[in-house]
Amino acid sequence: MGSLQIIADGKLPNYKDEVLALQTGCSIKVTGLLAASPGKGQRVELQADEVTVVGWADPAVYPLQKKRHSFEFLRTIAHLRPRTNTFGAVARVRSAMSYAIHTFFQERGFIYIHTPIITGSDCEGAGEMFRVTKFNLDQIPQKDGHADFTQDFFGGPASLTVSGQLEAEIYAHAMGDVYTFGPTFRAEDSNTSRHLAEFWMVEPEMAFCDLQCNAELAVQLLKYVFAHVLENCEEDMKFFNRFIDSTVVDTLEKLVSQDFEYLTYTEGIEILLKAKEKFEFPVNWGCDLQSEHERYLCEKVFHKPLILVDYPKEIKAFYMKLNEDGKTVRAMDVLVPKIGEIIGGSQREDDHDTLVERITEMNLNPEDYWWYLELRKFGSTPHSGFGLGFERLIQFVTGLANIRDVIPFPRTPGNVSF
Ligand code: 4AD
Ligand code: MG
Repeated sequence: MGSLQIIADGKLPNYKDEVLALQTGCSIKVTGLLAASPGKGQRVELQADEVTVVGWADPAVYPLQKKRHSFEFLRTIAHLRPRTNTFGAVARVRSAMSYAIHTFFQERGFIYIHTPIITGSDCEGAGEMFRVTKFNLDQIPQKDGHADFTQDFFGGPASLTVSGQLEAEIYAHAMGDVYTFGPTFRAEDSNTSRHLAEFWMVEPEMAFCDLQCNAELAVQLLKYVFAHVLENCEEDMKFFNRFIDSTVVDTLEKLVSQDFEYLTYTEGIEILLKAKEKFEFPVNWGCDLQSEHERYLCEKVFHKPLILVDYPKEIKAFYMKLNEDGKTVRAMDVLVPKIGEIIGGSQREDDHDTLVERITEMNLNPEDYWWYLELRKFGSTPHSGFGLGFERLIQFVTGLANIRDVIPFPRTPGNVSF
């Protein structure tokens, strides 16, 4: 990475006609001598013997100039923005973080499972899925006043997955520790700096593992990724620290050795109720925490990441294990300063009858989950897992405020131009 200074002598045969006409955006081929540089700002320079212009870029119409462009503008030219310093650095760090995540799991004997992108089940039960169909949308076959999916490609309704968890649970019950890391899709209309319609999720799933063991893995994974980035992306992290957010390096360094705070949802609510801060959304036991609440707890109270556990069952998905109090479930969210939730996970309900009840309570149909329920009939184990939002993690690491700037081609409501 980094840039290289090239010294072109006026005696080069194409100096006047070509070298002098070079502008930002051109591609060139250079051969010469790599030598120590007497100038400031670089260790070495390339003294050119030959400069060949491979591709011209007309400066009158090339959209990127040497000045700094706004991120909003750069989003409109996703085919050119990776050529800027910021997006080059993001791409390198994103790649290094992917590598670190795979290495972390592979070193610990987790099996990488490719869970499907097209699915017939709604993992989160929230109905926020993109439909996959081959129907001609102007002429959808009907039966009893509804679309007749028996005539569609898959013979039933199909969608893009919101999470690979349910299928990961199948493999965890065959192989022990597994993980999936792939794209997931959500049709929620959230036009915020932390939501994408297509994002990548890292999802470990472990048989014979309770919530405590799950939380420990999450902390180890985060620390591993932070340490890897600090060690392997030093230049890029310096860049982010200088131009994007002057706290990122310090924050990551601290987190590698610091403990995370661990508290229950109920304790979190008590703190929020006593807070002097004016929140936009009211707080009461049973409410879903908003990012302003999550950030308040991390930034103003504990000054570090939090693992919040035991949420009310009404605000969490059907598959989470019911606690003995009958009111809360063994959920676990990892919250970090500036962003809020980056991980959502839980111990899973492993008791067949309780799970049927929970599915029914959430107005879902147990028949749709027949195979998921069978896992609770044949060698059921206490098991747990979580989903780490990869882009939110990259935001946290790089300090970039908008999630659209940490994925090469962001998909958000109203935007799929590339
Ligand atoms: O909390 P979520 O919805 O959990 C699940 O999907 C579980 N099935 C995961 C599991 O237990 N295996 O999503 C997990 C994480 C969130 O914490 C967040 O970081 C990220 O995925 N996420 C999003 N990131 C970007 N854009 C969105 N629209 C996101 N929705 C969730
Ligand atoms: Mg969540």
